[in-house]
Amino acid sequence: MKVLIINGPNLNMLGKRENTHYGSQALSEINEILKKEAKRLNIKLGFFQSNTEGEIVSAIHKAVEENIDGIIINAGAYTHTSIAIRDALLIFNKPFIEVHLSNVFAREEFRHISMISDIALGVISGFKEDSYYLALLAIYRHLQKTKA
Ligand code: DQA
Repeated sequence: MKVLIINGPNLNMLGKRENTHYGSQALSEINEILKKEAKRLNIKLGFFQSNTEGEIVSAIHKAVEENIDGIIINAGAYTHTSIAIRDALLIFNKPFIEVHLSNVFAREEFRHISMISDIALGVISGFKEDSYYLALLAIYRHLQKTKA
């Protein structure tokens, strides 16, 4: 089972940005926890972070070529704007989970809009770093049930 975690703009600054929304853990620390959990579940986990929309699109294209089974994506602010990322996820055409550390629905109205929620397997929002952990368990359980 191959899963890719994609993080978009400003998420490389976790631990140094708005702790009340995003918690105090750095992305590298979150990824370490995910690596351990993936090992336990026998998932091959890949990590990608970029502050650039096109690079995220290209990472999703690469996921198609590499036959990745599922994606966990926190597209950051691009969640609310990026038709290009939506289109790339449609090309991917396999399950993905939209993740947010903060509860986007408890924040500004522009964060209530997502370009990708309606095509996602599901959305996990508001559990700080645990949002990724919960998403990993969710995609694992989903793929276990559906993957031949
Ligand atoms: C975020 C929420 C977005 O609105 C914001 O632009 C981010 C992070 C989150 O994880 O809560 O960069 O995706």
